[in-house]
Amino acid sequence: MENDHYLKQAYKLKTEADTLNLYENWADSYERTLADHGYVTPKRCAEALSRHLTDVTAPILDIGCGTGLSGLALKNAGFSSIDGTDVSATMIDKARLHKGVYKTLQLTTLSHPFPFVKGKYAAITAMGVIADKHAPPETISQLIDKLDKDGLLVFSLNNHTLENPTYEAEIRKLKAEENACLLEAEMGPHMTGYNMTSKICVLQAL
Ligand SMILES: C[S@@+](CC[C@H](N)C(=O)[O-])C[C@H]1O[C@@H](n2cnc3c(N)ncnc32)[C@H](O)[C@@H]1O
Repeated sequence: MENDHYLKQAYKLKTEADTLNLYENWADSYERTLADHGYVTPKRCAEALSRHLTDVTAPILDIGCGTGLSGLALKNAGFSSIDGTDVSATMIDKARLHKGVYKTLQLTTLSHPFPFVKGKYAAITAMGVIADKHAPPETISQLIDKLDKDGLLVFSLNNHTLENPTYEAEIRKLKAEENACLLEAEMGPHMTGYNMTSKICVLQAL
C-alpha cells in the first residue's frame, strides 16, 4: 500500500530516539494510514473497558494517546472524562484538533512518564503503546501501582510484541504477587488490512 512507509518503520525501530522521530514525522498522515489499514484495536479496548466500567463519567487516562484515535474510541463508547498523555508533542497537537474528546492533554517524558497522583483515575488505557521501543513491559506494573484498589488497566499487545515473552511475564508476576487480577485477555484483529492481531488485556488492581 502507498502509505505504508511509516507503518513499516514502526516495527523496525532501534532506539527510543527513532520512536520519537517516527511519530514527529508521521503525525500528519498517521490517522489516514491507520484508517486505510483498518486499525480496530482502540474500538476493541474501549469495548473491553465498557464491560467492566459502567460509570461513563469516571476519570480515565489514555497514555500514548497519539493523535487521539484511542480517545475517540473511548468517547464513542460513551466515556466522557478522558485525559491524554504522550511523549510526542506533534502527535498531541493533532489530538487537540479532536474537540471535545480529551479534557486535558499533557506532554510526558520517558524519564517522567506518569505525572499524576495514585488513585486519580478509575481506569488507565494504553492502546498501541506497550511494545518494543515504545513503553516497556514494566509499564504494566507501574500503571497498576498508580491505580487504587479495583482500578482498571486496559492495554493492547500486538502480535509482534507477544513474540517477546517479557510482556506477558509482567502480567503473570502481577497475578502471582496478588497485585492485580486479569479480567480479560482476548486475541482479535489489530489491523484488519495488515494481517495483524492484538491481545486486549484488562487488569484490575488488587
Ligand atoms: C501506535 S501510536 C498509538 C496512538 C493511539 N493510542 C492510537 O491508538 O492511535 C503509539 C503512541 O505511543 C507514543 N509512545 C511511544 N513510546 C511511549 C512511551 N514510552 N510512553 C508513552 N507514549 C509513548 C507515541 O508517541 C505514539 O503517539
